[in-house]
Amino acid sequence: MHFLEILIKKRNGRKLSPGEINYTVSNYTAGNIPDYQMAAWLMAVYFRGLDEQETAALTAAMAGSGQILKVAPGRGAFIDKHSTGGVGDGTSLVLAPLVAAAGVPVLMVSGRGLGHTGGTLDKLESVPGLRTDLTAARALRQVRCIGVAMIGQTAQLAPADKKIYALRDATGTVENISLICASILSKKIAVGIKGLVLDVKCGNGAFMKDFPGACKLAGLLMKIGRARGLKSKVLVTDMNQPLGNAIGNSLEIAQALEVLQGRGPDDFRELTLALGAEMLILGKKAKDKQTAITVLSRLLSTGQALNKFREMIKAQGGKIDKLPSAKYKTSILAKKGGYIRSFDTCAIGLTATLLGAGRQTKEDRVDPAAGIWLNKKLGDRVVPGEVLGEFHYNRTLPLKAIEQRFVQAITIGSDRPTVKPLIMERW
Ligand code: URA
Repeated sequence: MHFLEILIKKRNGRKLSPGEINYTVSNYTAGNIPDYQMAAWLMAVYFRGLDEQETAALTAAMAGSGQILKVAPGRGAFIDKHSTGGVGDGTSLVLAPLVAAAGVPVLMVSGRGLGHTGGTLDKLESVPGLRTDLTAARALRQVRCIGVAMIGQTAQLAPADKKIYALRDATGTVENISLICASILSKKIAVGIKGLVLDVKCGNGAFMKDFPGACKLAGLLMKIGRARGLKSKVLVTDMNQPLGNAIGNSLEIAQALEVLQGRGPDDFRELTLALGAEMLILGKKAKDKQTAITVLSRLLSTGQALNKFREMIKAQGGKIDKLPSAKYKTSILAKKGGYIRSFDTCAIGLTATLLGAGRQTKEDRVDPAAGIWLNKKLGDRVVPGEVLGEFHYNRTLPLKAIEQRFVQAITIGSDRPTVKPLIMERW
């Protein structure tokens, strides 16, 4: 088999066999296919698409690129949650310890920031000393001991996704439902979880901009996941504004700490409870949504979820009391008054990237303290000169241009808009 032939076959819109997909994934992971050829393959897939069988084969090949963990029976089924990517969505940081505090074991395998979206791994690593590169054996031991671990793909767990994810980010090939589906599910299958709650984001800050596209991705995730024995629940949620107030790694950790103490922004809390309730039901710790939400709210207000978070951070070597904060803070003021009518959420995410919170090339290092604290949400009233948001950054930047981008991403008008429900659909 020659990779160039496989690449040309997909470029010409033909279907690849499982063998060809396996060859592609295993040889790219082993370093036998150079980045430039794999980038061309990804672009061919982006334009030509993969059908369901090809997507299933890609998912299986990526999951099988490393070890597939076998979780000992009798420990309780591991349940996980994953989002398809949004701006300011740090719910995983709260959900993993919260659900673990309710007695559901969580071994969460997360990814890095992708495009304009943030990544749980980058957020976690903004905690000084915290390791996310635990071996599978160590992560499993930690889950047995304290009920929760949050890690990244390693050389053992879905290493293909780690490489392909970084290349997609740098080649404009993120927004393809088959690539997203294989990326998410390969990590989950590798860990041997039994249940998965998926948050499929929909809107101008998501990879799926419209409802039909989000539903298509949701359906594909459920179908491919179920075929691999994964019990799944999917929520399609609105991403036409950043979630919560924080965008950027240590800022989002600080916000998660607030939510873990029963405070924090309403939308963030609403989504956390909705996703957490589904995790509890899949993990058989609650029989219905209302019971689950009551349990979760109590764990937040009593500090038990926060204690679990602190326990996890400590077990992974992190020092939560030493969160980095940026040297420079600049308030961005509203030039006119009215109501916040819309956000260009993708542009807000990119603004945070320009401040240092994300990567523009795959070699870039993220600045853990950089980001934006957003003071206003959709429908909020604004008076001229009021603070719309605060930039946090450490380096010399073309601040005027970044500010202009940010301000242009927020539409202020005289009528208050109707704000759509956060949870758009449930399956
Ligand atoms: N999350 C992932 O893990 N992969 C994607 O491709 C998108 C979101």
